[in-house]
Amino acid sequence: MEELNKLTEQIQNLSIENQLKFLAEKYKDKIAFSTSFGQEDQVLTDLIFRNKIQIEIFTLDTGRMFEETYKIWNKTNEKYEQKIKVYFPDKEQVEKMVSEKGVYSFYDSIENRKECCNIRKVYPLARALKSADLWITGLRAEQSVTRTELALLEPNDSFNVIKFNPLTKWTLNEVLLYLKKYNVPYNNLHDQGFLSIGCAPCTRAVNPGEDIRAGRWWWENKDSKECGLHIDQKTLSFNIKRIK
Ligand code: ADX
Ligand code: SF4
Repeated sequence: MEELNKLTEQIQNLSIENQLKFLAEKYKDKIAFSTSFGQEDQVLTDLIFRNKIQIEIFTLDTGRMFEETYKIWNKTNEKYEQKIKVYFPDKEQVEKMVSEKGVYSFYDSIENRKECCNIRKVYPLARALKSADLWITGLRAEQSVTRTELALLEPNDSFNVIKFNPLTKWTLNEVLLYLKKYNVPYNNLHDQGFLSIGCAPCTRAVNPGEDIRAGRWWWENKDSKECGLHIDQKTLSFNIKRIK
């Protein structure tokens, strides 16, 4: 906790670009940024790639993503001509789950939905962060009732890392202004009413004025709508630390 407070003091008044540079220098090859190619993630990708900051960028391909997400992934590769590392789920776990429970098991119960998110996202994330000490995300506090307390830096027991959320205080408008200013490519689905984009069968467009994440797992209560990437391990039914 002391380390975290000191780090927060060191970076909180720096520009976002300098925060990333400072942490890249401090954590060297132990720092990684996870992107799902959403609009917030594209801001961070642009900052890292355009300024050639030494931070690994990776994505978790769940196998159920929108075609548009693959297109923006490809466009991002082409624009910056730099590598984005990909992690896939464990094939045996996916084969077992889909063979036994079918292709839409996640609609049947919250338990099944979390099982699918664990297999397709959470375990691969644990693998991606295996040797990392600092994990960067595109989370913003105003995205959800589950994220209002989101700090710039926070301990993350689930993956045994420090989590850095550089955009926590940004508004959606600031994100959009950044994308425009720097001509950053974004997922076409954002122009079709999709604000927060996850897997295709679990994401839909929202109406103007609706909650930013209303289109994610829309059949569930909004207090439970986190997939396990961003909740404390105490609430998960397994111990991710074993993977590390
Ligand atoms: S989720 O937990 O509900 O899926 P959300 O879509 O809001 O998360 O994204 C928040 C942050 O989680 C992103 O900015 C990104 O850092 C990380 N993230 C979410 N999904 C992925 C993914 N498939 N691959 C890599 N990072 C992801
Ligand atoms: Fe499975 Fe839906 Fe979670 Fe994607 S968002 S991992 S399809 S339950």
